[in-house]
Amino acid sequence: MNDGNLAAWDVDPSGIPATGTGVDKARFAVRYAILAPSSHNTQPWRFMMIGSELLVCADRTRSLPNIDPFDRELIISCGAALFNLRVALAYFDMPIEITTFPHSAEPDVVARIVFADSGPKLPDLANLFDAITQRVTNRGPFNNEDVPDDVVERLKLAAEAEGVDVAFARTLSERERVAALIAQADRQQFDDPRFRRELASWIHPSRSNDGMPASSQGLDVLTDFATPIAAMVIRTFDLGNGVAAAREQLARGSPLLVVLSTPMDNNNNEGWLAAGLALQRLLLVATTAGYSTSYLNQPIEISELRTRLATELRMGGYPQILLRVGRGSSVPHSPRRPIGDVLL
Ligand SMILES: Cc1cc2nc3c(=O)[nH]c(=O)nc-3n(C[C@H](O)[C@H](O)[C@H](O)COP(=O)(O)O)c2cc1C
Repeated sequence: MNDGNLAAWDVDPSGIPATGTGVDKARFAVRYAILAPSSHNTQPWRFMMIGSELLVCADRTRSLPNIDPFDRELIISCGAALFNLRVALAYFDMPIEITTFPHSAEPDVVARIVFADSGPKLPDLANLFDAITQRVTNRGPFNNEDVPDDVVERLKLAAEAEGVDVAFARTLSERERVAALIAQADRQQFDDPRFRRELASWIHPSRSNDGMPASSQGLDVLTDFATPIAAMVIRTFDLGNGVAAAREQLARGSPLLVVLSTPMDNNNNEGWLAAGLALQRLLLVATTAGYSTSYLNQPIEISELRTRLATELRMGGYPQILLRVGRGSSVPHSPRRPIGDVLL
């Protein structure tokens, strides 16, 4: 059992108010939405029950202006939360209709969910339910044993089911070329004091409800410091070379790198949301298959390297997410804000 800021992970499906109204059940399902990943664990979402409708909204007060100036990753994070909701509602056998971005004048309303009287069973979604509470971002090294073809195929189908393109780097030489772009991106980002300041502001103490622990940066040099000092070190010093070397090694040593991409990018709320749905679907499929996942998005956050990444993997369109997949040791969950802070 987890206490405090990890308690959200102990959600028990038998707690659904079986004799409650549809609204009570929908509110319960939101407990699964908030277990989605989000960049820097900002949890940039809000959920509103208005009458019998459930709105999923972007909380742009939790944006990351330096690495994510157009709220692209913020909307991807909301897409991941929306996917968890779809899985939970399918599991609880609650048919729904979803309209994405229902009001063009209100781009913060990401999705409107209305509850239908009847609808098809969705076993493909319901079967992913247990993985919601098992999924975790694992920044440790992965065993380099190959990911079998059938698992790669399932990951591909997961992304494509949400209309998102996917490419893989599997051979060592493909992974090395992508790893070199990751290292270059780390050096460029850490060279910028604004990037370091933003990252440091989301390195939070373990009692916090959001943000990441200092250990998330994967630098041995930081593990000797308490969180406020580690944040200060990140803010003050250019650790780019150390980070780049560590992450290059992680990427190279992981058996599978995965890139999700969409055909368009600029102000492409729908495409970013689809990328978030695809991301979470793929993560839950990987978790169900016993694989760990982690992110190396930094080349996508720099326009020139983003183009080079697409070229390396012969992808049309715009890369949105870069993941590594493999078998890793178990790692603890990250905190979540209490449900009362995000469900109105
Ligand atoms: C759109 C998006 C981008 C992310 N980018 C990175 C990244 O570049 N590096 C990283 O280590 N984690 C990244 N993450 C993972 C988050 O930091 C992680 O989801 C968050 O800390 C919560 O932890 P959890 O996934 O274990 O629940 C990203 C997550 C999302 C949804």
